Amino acid sequence: MKRLQTWFPTFLYTNRLRARGGEAFNRELLKECHQLRDFDVDGQKWSRTNYPGGYTSYGTLDKLHQFSSTFGDLERDLNRHVRAFGRALEWELGGRQLVMTDCWVNIMPQRTAHSLHLHPNSVVSGTYYVATPRGCAGLKFEDPRMSRFMAAPPRKPEVRPANQLYVTYPAQAGHLILFESWLRHEVVANPVKSERISISFNYDWA
Ligand code: NI
Repeated sequence: MKRLQTWFPTFLYTNRLRARGGEAFNRELLKECHQLRDFDVDGQKWSRTNYPGGYTSYGTLDKLHQFSSTFGDLERDLNRHVRAFGRALEWELGGRQLVMTDCWVNIMPQRTAHSLHLHPNSVVSGTYYVATPRGCAGLKFEDPRMSRFMAAPPRKPEVRPANQLYVTYPAQAGHLILFESWLRHEVVANPVKSERISISFNYDWA
């Protein structure tokens, strides 16, 4: 056995949603995201308090996969990726399945941010990117052991990737990212003028 072993890794999954035909599907999603924002007056109000500068349907329309066939198609595609993620994590599902419970839209103009948070009571969470203008904010994850690093020295500037305390995944339209729902993450203030548009979701073991 080597002297130094690694245990308890944290897994992140990223992939293109569809191998082909993704652009047309994304255009349809983009249209519906804008329609939702324009139509969801309660959500606009909720966002003014909870998502300054931007729009999210999180507080008002968070089951879009049950209301729109386009979002239903997105759910069907995401299921395939979530299952692959579950296999990689070697989960024993015991006859139950990973099922989408929530699905909502996030529209971030310049300067809108989403501070560090996690998704309690879910198993897998993730984001699918609809519009990602060049230079827009990525998705930043925090080492889940951060609160336990009591009195630990800092990391060297040239630290190897697996030992970083943060990792940022660039947002890329047509791509998705999955993570376990306990992993804290944030989106820093969007630095570019154009809107960054994404669809976030939660899965439960049901
Ligand atoms: Ni989140």
